[in-house]
Amino acid sequence: MTHENRPTVLVARGIFPEVVVKLRQHFDVKTNDTDEDWSAAELASRLQGCVGALTTGSQRIDDALLTACPQLKIVANMAVGYNNFDLTAMANHGVVGTNTPDVLTETTADFGFALVLATARRLTESEHFLRAGLWTRWAYDLFAGSEVHGSTLGILGMGRIGQGVARRGAHGFGMRVIYHNRSRLDAATEAECKAEYVSKNDLLAQADHLVLVLPYTPGNHHAIGAAELKQMKPTANLINIARGGIVDDAALAQALRDGQIAAAGLDVFEGEPQVHPELLTLPNVVLTPHIASATVGTRKAMAHLAADNLIAYLTQGQPLTPVTPR
Ligand code: 8YV
Repeated sequence: MTHENRPTVLVARGIFPEVVVKLRQHFDVKTNDTDEDWSAAELASRLQGCVGALTTGSQRIDDALLTACPQLKIVANMAVGYNNFDLTAMANHGVVGTNTPDVLTETTADFGFALVLATARRLTESEHFLRAGLWTRWAYDLFAGSEVHGSTLGILGMGRIGQGVARRGAHGFGMRVIYHNRSRLDAATEAECKAEYVSKNDLLAQADHLVLVLPYTPGNHHAIGAAELKQMKPTANLINIARGGIVDDAALAQALRDGQIAAAGLDVFEGEPQVHPELLTLPNVVLTPHIASATVGTRKAMAHLAADNLIAYLTQGQPLTPVTPR
């Protein structure tokens, strides 16, 4: 039943029921009970009459959608990344966008490090071998991997999550940490992370483990392609916890096949949930389905922050964590 004069908001994907209950204290709430990823046309039709939307990274908010939904005032992403937002179109339509920074930083950095370890120590490859009944004896080189402690950790994109990965490497594993970023960090943050600023070329040439944590922008499309992979050490591992599209997955598959780099750990993919078919056949890749922020506590914190943004903006005119063009 709809209440008169209550604003209506749409929750575009399945989320924790407690968050829907919270939203219902303020709004009439429409939900996506099947949790399907709606087409743009379906999303526009579901948004009719809605002033707010809670989205995840897979709903594109662009000029066509906003033109079709003139009542919309705010879109709250349950994600720190917001490359699904066309911020120029949103500004033109007077629509506020928000994201969920901070609440997922440490959890996502943990997972970045999990992929560093799993990739270097060939965790999934060796587990598949064991499960397949192929383990018949000890061998001196059985799944011999690469060193993590004491090696060089390279980080491309040194925002909050990148700094979290750096601290884990420097303080937990005694690694030398080098990074490249759009802008250099202040000296105090560099000292806290024990991280040294280097050029992108030096980062590629020196990293034993290269972790990608940069936002996906048009300028970062294929920031790691064939040319960059050629600059890396043949013993190096590449970890992507940022976004599909930052790595040219076809070029990566080729580099892994040709031994240009040793291995990769990937949580995100171009065109996900599709995965480049060749990556699926290669043994030296650890593949996970975009779960870097997926702990119960963190996903709840993300969903609550997205909901709180809707409540704060639609009841008090002030979003908590608005995003601005980079
Ligand atoms: C989300 C993410 O789970 O926060 C981000 O940017 O990539 C993930 O934490 C995903 O985007 C779904 O919203």
